[in-house]
Amino acid sequence: MRMIVRKAKGLSGRVKVPGDKSISHRALLLGAIAEGTTRIRGFLPAADCLATLACVRALGVEVERLSETELIVQGRGLRGLREPEAVLDCVGSGTTMRLLAGILAGQPFYSVLTGNEQLRRRPMGRIAEPLRRMGAIVLGRDDGRLPPLTILGGDLHGIQYSLPVASAQVKSAILLAGLYADGPTVIHEPGPARDHTERMLAAMGANIQYPISNIKLHSSKLSSLDIVVPGDISSAAYFIAAACLVPGSGVVIEGVGVNPTRTGFLDALGEMGADIVMENQREVSGEPVADVVVRAAELRGVEVRGDRVPRMIDEFPILAVVATQAQGDTVVRDAAELRVKESDRIAAIEAELRKLGACIEERADGFVVEGPTSLRGTVVDSHGDHRLAMSLAIAGLIAEGETTIVGAECIADSFPGFEEILTALAG
Ligand code: S3P
Repeated sequence: MRMIVRKAKGLSGRVKVPGDKSISHRALLLGAIAEGTTRIRGFLPAADCLATLACVRALGVEVERLSETELIVQGRGLRGLREPEAVLDCVGSGTTMRLLAGILAGQPFYSVLTGNEQLRRRPMGRIAEPLRRMGAIVLGRDDGRLPPLTILGGDLHGIQYSLPVASAQVKSAILLAGLYADGPTVIHEPGPARDHTERMLAAMGANIQYPISNIKLHSSKLSSLDIVVPGDISSAAYFIAAACLVPGSGVVIEGVGVNPTRTGFLDALGEMGADIVMENQREVSGEPVADVVVRAAELRGVEVRGDRVPRMIDEFPILAVVATQAQGDTVVRDAAELRVKESDRIAAIEAELRKLGACIEERADGFVVEGPTSLRGTVVDSHGDHRLAMSLAIAGLIAEGETTIVGAECIADSFPGFEEILTALAG
């Protein structure tokens, strides 16, 4: 599918974005192993979360879909899952594969996790290694580092583990396995990766402490929960960026999750001089939520490194687009993780933004953008990466003429309805 975007005159309106992807996955997975009935409202009906839904059902969990976004999960308790009859297909979802591997490590049965070509290239040694240390058998291609993964779970013991990278997926896989372990599981993380798993486990009654960077979990039963999923800040980021960039814009995005482990992009924009205000701050299902009000502003370059990187790990392609319009250099360091996302996001954003006329240079662990530059619409490629496709669509709003994004169908991996909301805001 090709998406065609033309230069916009100004964005205005109040919108809501679909439910948070990370929280939607966790609500299904934790609901599946909790005791009793978990109700999920605001579920994200995107391809990635639907992959988790299909896997959970293949493990014998009954899930009733009352509407696109409202689900009832009949939890089977920690030990009630059934050996799947066929291979579990995680499609393109790294979160599905890594978190589910943690749960499967605790099951006394055989399971195989696979995915599409893109997912089968993504590193799984980072979860296989700690899960093996806990006592599970985890096999895969390339010496156990690449999917498909075969898991023979069973008696696990708790471990003390220092994460080599600040990854919420790896942290969550170990925590979910830790629910089945015979001693405490202790994790030290090198940076603040999103803590949605910790929050949801605590809300479901798990014995968990999670002060910054040092998490301790004891094997616990989970109780069911009513979960309302907030709007996904990583989806809101595209409209926040667009409203900053297109002169004359004023946009309100309602009900956005603003968990501090996810708001690094707002902090970076604030340092760039953006006009962003959070209104109506509240807590929903243990997660902070706000309405985000954005007006266009003159921007300057920013440096992003260290602890801010995990707090905005999915927002670097859109940061690069914003940086093309900021005065001076924007420098990103310590972000080599971007190379193992749905695409090599450092190489891909450099290649595509250059086609539009941006001054961007790749570094081993980030990039440098020199701004401001005027962009010229042309044909660009999504690299099969939803975050790249949406970032390029926002670039199209500020580029002269017409921008065509080839391979835009991948937007459905995380954001069904992106085009409709963009059209409503940009007129
Ligand atoms: C996610 C964690 C992040 C993020 C991904 C979703 C999660 O990945 O990029 O889109 O739901 O835990 P890493 O944990 O690998 O950084």
